[in-house]
Amino acid sequence: MSKRVYINDVGPRDGLQNQAKILLPEQRLDLIKSLVKAGLDGVEVGAFVSPKAVPAMAGTDQICQSLPSSDCHFSALIPNMKGFELARDNNVKLASLVMAASNTMNEKNIRMDNAQTLAMIKDVIDAASGTEVELQVYLATAWECPFEGIISVNQVHELAAQLIEMGASRLVIADTIGAGDPQAVNNVMSALISDFDADMFACHFHDTRAMGLANVYAALEAGVRRFDASIAGLGGCPFAPGASGNVATEDVVMMCEQMGYETGIDMFGLLAASDLAVELTETARGGNAKTWLRKTY
Ligand code: COA
Ligand code: ZN
Repeated sequence: MSKRVYINDVGPRDGLQNQAKILLPEQRLDLIKSLVKAGLDGVEVGAFVSPKAVPAMAGTDQICQSLPSSDCHFSALIPNMKGFELARDNNVKLASLVMAASNTMNEKNIRMDNAQTLAMIKDVIDAASGTEVELQVYLATAWECPFEGIISVNQVHELAAQLIEMGASRLVIADTIGAGDPQAVNNVMSALISDFDADMFACHFHDTRAMGLANVYAALEAGVRRFDASIAGLGGCPFAPGASGNVATEDVVMMCEQMGYETGIDMFGLLAASDLAVELTETARGGNAKTWLRKTY
């Protein structure tokens, strides 16, 4: 099985949307550029959402218009058709729709229940066909919903099958509130990978219960090679009570490289990006391994 691991940094979106301090688009762009410089395979640069719902993501259009030319796969989150139209009109090549596994979470996040969300996703995927925009879907709260509790493997599998059938280019299976454990991660990802191509999936873990890195390992063992992570461990969801930071990119890269996987990421550059995230937000703490990594890099 491939030893290449692809990491998408979601700090400039998932991370910054949840910080007390709202950054200027130019500051967000500086962080994005530092991540590109470090060699990230992907960076989630922002979200085309209501600025009333998420003030920190205002100005994502400006950012998308100013991205450096690079092989990096830039993506932006979109909650609905309006988000798709804005992404398309601002040169976005990869847009991420979001569907929570539970009705309540969809209602809290995007004000639609599961059936409405699926119908909206179908409409957006149809609208995107023939355009330059590729659409992937985040399957959020895939292990546990803060309102409805544990999500079954069957529920995730069923939704994943429907989304793949609709034409989603990839699914990001997300533990939005960081409630999953390595066994649960293995159960879900093994079930998906036994029926679909492993490259169809990425995993997105939050470190709320300190199991983020263990969950990355469990997903690797199940065959997943694509991961979201957030520089300096920034992150959280304003609509999911209890959500805390994502697993830190520097920790994920260190673990993968030490285990013999290749990420293509330059640790010097990554720690510089982590320093910048700490400096800009004044709240990010940096990855757990950062002090140790600093001794070498
Ligand atoms: N981008 C920008 N503005 C948007 C928008 C989008 N994608 N979708 C809707 N809006 C605007 C509408 O134009 C309208 O503006 P107005 O009040 O000036 O007329 C306003 O938002 C309300 O529109 P409506 O369709 O009634 O939306 P809503 O109130 O049901 O809110 C969302 C739905 C999805 C727009 C809103 O809940 C949202 O942006 N949520 C963010 C979700 C998110 O980022 N979660 C974290 C990541 S998972
Ligand atoms: Zn998240």
